[in-house]
Amino acid sequence: MQNFKTMAHTEIRTYLNAHKDRFLHELLDLLKIPSISAKPEHKSDMEKTAEAVKNRLIEAGADHVEICHTKGYPVVYGEKIIDPLKPTVVVYGHYDVQPADPIDLWNSPPFEPVIKKTDIHPEGAVFARGACDDKGQMYMHVKAFEIMMKTNTLPCNVKFMIEGEEEVGSPSLGPWIVENKEKLKGDIILISDTSMIANDIPSIDTGLRGLAYMEVEVTGPNRDLHSGVYGGAVANPINILCKMIASCHDENNHITIPGFYDNVQELSQEERAEMAKAPFDLVAFKKDLKVEEELGEKGFSTNERTGIRPTLDVNGIWGGYTGDGAKTVLPSKAFAKISMRLVPNQSSKEISELFKQHFESIAPKSVKVKVNAHHGGEPVVVPITSEGFIAASNAMEETYGKKPVPTRSGGSIPIVALFKKELGMDSILFGFGLDSDALHSPNEHFGLFNYYKGIETIPLFYHHFSTKA
Ligand code: BES
Ligand code: MN
Ligand code: MN
Repeated sequence: MQNFKTMAHTEIRTYLNAHKDRFLHELLDLLKIPSISAKPEHKSDMEKTAEAVKNRLIEAGADHVEICHTKGYPVVYGEKIIDPLKPTVVVYGHYDVQPADPIDLWNSPPFEPVIKKTDIHPEGAVFARGACDDKGQMYMHVKAFEIMMKTNTLPCNVKFMIEGEEEVGSPSLGPWIVENKEKLKGDIILISDTSMIANDIPSIDTGLRGLAYMEVEVTGPNRDLHSGVYGGAVANPINILCKMIASCHDENNHITIPGFYDNVQELSQEERAEMAKAPFDLVAFKKDLKVEEELGEKGFSTNERTGIRPTLDVNGIWGGYTGDGAKTVLPSKAFAKISMRLVPNQSSKEISELFKQHFESIAPKSVKVKVNAHHGGEPVVVPITSEGFIAASNAMEETYGKKPVPTRSGGSIPIVALFKKELGMDSILFGFGLDSDALHSPNEHFGLFNYYKGIETIPLFYHHFSTKA
């Protein structure tokens, strides 16, 4: 280990330093393709991006690189098997990105990456949709692999599985992994698609929340009506929908759906005390978001509210007249998209069903309600005692000079639970981005420090993971 540290680590750093500019420009090229999986008009951009990822993997030294077609967008696969008796790391990432809108709020066009300094990223950050989520973080793995190949320091086998539908719930990847169990055989899944606390406070996520995503339609009268002629005499579906939504939380911000908390795993006082050790700056949190006060479930801290507690949020609500000026109308219909973040041991299917029953039951007779479920996903926890977690922790400790803090992420990566269920593998959530990098928001960015630090740290994970076995 001493040997690896002094020799290979130095070699890795030297190679990284010599190729920094190219590594950055290759990422910028990838960010120029608008691979928005949610919008059908970007189909050819999706294919172009898959092709680019394939070529970058080949150049980095991967074998059997292929574009694997699915019912949806393809999965890019590649591997390097140096010795079947050695451990195998399976890298997962996604090349699709979220839509860029609202475009007006971007300071530079979302698919014309630029590098700018910020308070948090004094050495500069790449601004573009997908910079952090997940092209930048995914590409760190391709470059770390290139370094290990070129410096002859790859200590184990590696398989890449880069998908194009994560941002729309990975509908094709689930079936694809089931069909390719043999091909994907490995010891650990390695994913960089989450965040760390801060650039001087490394952390590793030990869990992800699940998701149940619903859409509701409330219908009042059979057509839009004059709000003067009819107003006050029939149900306004928007008024009703707002009441129904408001009633889903009580005065303590507990969710009121019967049975919602039944399977929620409660943490012990010791576990909560352990969690509370993770540094968190509430003042900075409020300042960043420009809010006077945080808000959430009574009896829990902000980190607990996002990490170990389930939530219910309206993602969008519409109906009636929303154009310029005023139109006096009593709408016939109202709609909302409502999502619930889930924690162990809630089940996405069960919670969707409970929501549906509840929402239908609280609707007054004056309206009709339709409830449909969109995609969902199950929560996961990663044991911090596992060899993979320890290898990741050791790797970060070497490059950051501090032991990473275990944290719980509030976000979801639905496929991770399926990796465990279908492939029997745990995942390591080796995220190098920051929550403040504006993922899914205008002006998404990824720090250059984070990009290069990730590339430097990943080979150390491979080293620690393969020497344990
Ligand atoms: N990379 C994110 C998830 C994430 C971000 C986890 C930050 C932890 C910290 C992923 O791309 C994502 O956005 N997931 C979606 C779910 C998906 C079904 C659309 C999410 O969490 O909303
Ligand atoms: Mn992501
Ligand atoms: Mn995302």
